Amino acid sequence: MFTMRGFEWDLLEEVFAPVYSPSTEVGLDFLEQRRVPFGGSLLEVGCGAGLLAVLAAKYGCRRVVASDVNPHAVRNAALNAARHGVADRVEAVHCDMFSGIDHDERFDTIFWSSNYVYGPCDYEYRSLHERAYVDAGYRAHRAFLEQAPLWLSEGGTALLHFSSRGDHGELENLARRTGRLLRTVTTVELLESEYGADPVRHLLLEVLPVSDRVGGEMATAR
Ligand SMILES: C[S@@+](CC[C@H](N)C(=O)[O-])C[C@H]1O[C@@H](n2cnc3c(N)ncnc32)[C@H](O)[C@@H]1O
Repeated sequence: MFTMRGFEWDLLEEVFAPVYSPSTEVGLDFLEQRRVPFGGSLLEVGCGAGLLAVLAAKYGCRRVVASDVNPHAVRNAALNAARHGVADRVEAVHCDMFSGIDHDERFDTIFWSSNYVYGPCDYEYRSLHERAYVDAGYRAHRAFLEQAPLWLSEGGTALLHFSSRGDHGELENLARRTGRLLRTVTTVELLESEYGADPVRHLLLEVLPVSDRVGGEMATAR
């Protein structure tokens, strides 16, 4: 159990712990700044303990799907949805990326705070918990870039919370290969002492099909 954003949360074993890294709060800040997704629908990929999904529902999102490849995270998100009285609006789904999402469903916002550390393609996970940090061969990132725009409703937004601890060059390569452009929506730099003296840069990236135009201009990869 822990407290964040003034609420108490269950935390199960093997689930990404929001208290040991600033990334959950940064993700919450990112979505709050964009006033996402009041009245709309949200798919949170990689929901972990479910804070963002539950708070989105509490703040007025009419439908939230919270998915994770880690079954403990899915159970954790469902527990927290029940604890905060939004179980009727938050559906927790166990699946790898979009594989378990209802084929007919579309979302106004799709968000993933990713496991941005690049792992070798043959990396063998020692636990489910490790999947919160490492993505072997960036397979999950590739799937997100390729598929997220396809699950959006008209005018919807696919967002990736990435960081300077990830391999941004490889992410851009994947975007090119999958016909996507990455638009930097906002960034924040934080000193995370356990990672040394250099600040860690958190990025909120919008995933766009190559053909999309942003503000009348073609979006450019950064
Ligand atoms: C950095 S954690 C973020 C957890 C939570 N959203 C938060 O901010 O506290 C990344 C999450 O992505 C999940 N994940 C990793 N690979 C995935 C995949 N292929 N499909 C779905 N979820 C995945 C992990 O299990 C983990 O819960």
